[in-house]
Amino acid sequence: MKVSQITNLFEQYGSPLYVYDAEQIRTRVVQLQTDLTQYAHTDFLYAIKANYNPHIVKIITDMGVGIDAVSVEEVELALHVGVAPSRIMFTGNNMTDSEMHRVHELGVLLNIGSLSRLKKFGVAYPGSSVCVRFNPNIGIASHETNITGGADSKFGISFKSVESVTEIAMKYNLQIVGIHQHIGSGWLRTREPLLALDVILDIAAQIPNLNFIDVGGGFGIPYHRDDAPLDTKFLGARIKDRMVEFTDAYGTEVTLRFEPGRYFVAESGTLYTEVNTIKETISRRTVVGTNTGMNHLVRPAMYGSYHPIENISNPNGEKKEYDITGNICECADYFGKDYLLPDVREGDILAIGCAGAYGMSMASNYQFRMLPAEVLIDGDTVRCIRPRQQFEELLAVYGTLT
Ligand code: LLP
Repeated sequence: MKVSQITNLFEQYGSPLYVYDAEQIRTRVVQLQTDLTQYAHTDFLYAIKANYNPHIVKIITDMGVGIDAVSVEEVELALHVGVAPSRIMFTGNNMTDSEMHRVHELGVLLNIGSLSRLKKFGVAYPGSSVCVRFNPNIGIASHETNITGGADSKFGISFKSVESVTEIAMKYNLQIVGIHQHIGSGWLRTREPLLALDVILDIAAQIPNLNFIDVGGGFGIPYHRDDAPLDTKFLGARIKDRMVEFTDAYGTEVTLRFEPGRYFVAESGTLYTEVNTIKETISRRTVVGTNTGMNHLVRPAMYGSYHPIENISNPNGEKKEYDITGNICECADYFGKDYLLPDVREGDILAIGCAGAYGMSMASNYQFRMLPAEVLIDGDTVRCIRPRQQFEELLAVYGTLT
């Protein structure tokens, strides 16, 4: 976007500011709905944790996508947006009894990732339908911290425990309508996901009458210009081959489900921020100080993630190396080091790209700072979809002092 447009948006909604492009979201949804549906019986659930602004969720669910929720709050948010309970699945990690009861009461399918919870569910709701999450002992992600499959992972039931699962199901007359796995987030290669698909298909072969097999999300996006984008067409073709072979042997059609989060929304979002300080360190590194920080976009500080950054105020300036930092009193509060950017000056506006996923949804009030506003651009319309937090809101939650 042009500097003048952003300056106008800053005036209306405050700075820094998250801006999303609705068309970009739709493009990514259509892309997966095209490339990954070469096997005809395919379904998508949006991993709402990536960005749960209800206006953004609605764009996606209006396109026929269901919801993958991991908290009761996310389930209730999806219902609030108008998603039918049958289009939501709850994959609660280490879920409590009260979460189990509440979600079941809401008519939402539970995806259970431990033998002990499966037993408790069987005792409470014999004869019910359930989905079971397995760990295929294969993991892959953009960062070590985002791997959710593998020998030491806390997620899912071991792929070796299929018999224990079916015994519990039999004892309580549970209908295992689906099985699930999610091996990690942000992968750009297809090898491991396809190997993991083979593992879950082996498990599926041992469980009769499945309606669906859910292989989770994790589809990566090219944050860096040198990243080769995920070949979704190739992935869809390989998946089709395996699914056709599987269903021929299994005897009935089984729906294959995907749970993308990041892929749908990451590239649609940009965090715009203003430069307020430029200084040199003792070692003569040039530090750019902005009016946002790890409280608004924690991924670089938390995972060392790369986000593209542009100096939209001076696109043709002479390029120099900068460390881009936030305004939070923490050493980790960097958006990136050694960024080559056109001459950055105090007052310039920087665009931190690919911030639509796990940006605002992981933002916090750390250091008692307010959350920024969110704006949605849809063609010619510009809508504020969340106003900037007010100081009074921050204080009000604590009630009156005695
Ligand atoms: N399904 C399940 C069960 C999940 O746990 C996740 C992500 C997804 C689907 C969606 O994954 P995606 O398609 O968005 O990669 N905060 C990290 C990502 C953590 C993802 C956790 N689970 C980040 O900023 O990279």
